[in-house]
Amino acid sequence: MAATRALLLAVVSTAALLGTALGASYTVGAPSGSWDLKTNYTRWASGVKLYAGDQLRFQYTVAEHNVVEVTKSGYDACNGSNNTVATYQTGNDTIPLTAAGSRYFICGVPGHCAAGMKLHVNVSSQQTPPPPPPPPQQQCRMRKGKLRCNRPASPSSSASAAAAVDRSAVAWQRLAAVVVAGLVLLC
Ligand SMILES: *[C@@H]1O[C@H](CO)[C@@H](O)[C@H](O)[C@H]1NC(C)=O
Ligand SMILES: *[C@@H]1O[C@H](CO)[C@@H](O)[C@H](O)[C@H]1NC(C)=O
Ligand SMILES: *[C@@H]1O[C@H](CO)[C@@H](O)[C@H](O)[C@H]1NC(C)=O
Ligand SMILES: *[C@@H]1O[C@H](CO)[C@@H](O)[C@H](O)[C@H]1NC(C)=O
Ligand SMILES: *[C@@H]1O[C@H](CO)[C@@H](O)[C@H](O)[C@H]1NC(C)=O
Repeated sequence: MAATRALLLAVVSTAALLGTALGASYTVGAPSGSWDLKTNYTRWASGVKLYAGDQLRFQYTVAEHNVVEVTKSGYDACNGSNNTVATYQTGNDTIPLTAAGSRYFICGVPGHCAAGMKLHVNVSSQQTPPPPPPPPQQQCRMRKGKLRCNRPASPSSSASAAAAVDRSAVAWQRLAAVVVAGLVLLC
């Protein structure tokens, strides 16, 4: 049990470290869509939680679409010409979201933004790890007129402690039996 918990903790903290180091990758429009004229990107954006360090991936047919990152005014006006931050056109564009804040993307093909190919995402600052569990409470009890306190053992370690007590008790009983037998033989 203690070993399982330690292993679980190791796995979780490794995942957290890898997660913050590598970030998650989200394919825009997935799983039901892609970067196309059919997907509702307002709805898609409301279903993902993005953190700094994550990536967006735009997948589309190069002949049909492209990706233009624009400012808010470019997004609002569906016009990238004076508001372009970057242009991507490989059909499989990975865009790192390095910092918290808003990012705006449109398709630069005339008419496609107005037809719905526009994406606004909010990127949150890096996910903070969950707080560590509170330390176990001390257990105190009166014993022989003194207040004795000890840290509660986890179920498995108290079980193995009990087992150890059992084993030492058995050993003492055997030793006593040998001594008694020896005394009987001597007499
Ligand atoms: C897209 O989805 C949003 C939220 O679900 C909805 O309010 C909006 O009307 C949808 N847009 C279109 C064009 O269907
Ligand atoms: C886009 O903006 C530019 C400059 O801001 C302007 O010249 C152009 O006419 C606009 N295009 C559309 C389709 O509104
Ligand atoms: C482009 O935008 C800048 C400010 O964002 C503005 O000063 C400039 O006049 C604009 N150019 C055109 C052609 O609209
Ligand atoms: C898209 O690019 C990523 C790496 O940026 C790669 O892992 C993936 O296989 C590519 N997918 C396609 C369909 O080319
Ligand atoms: C982004 O954040 C702003 C302000 O917090 C909010 O009004 C907007 O709806 C958010 N947009 C998305 C796509 O989450």
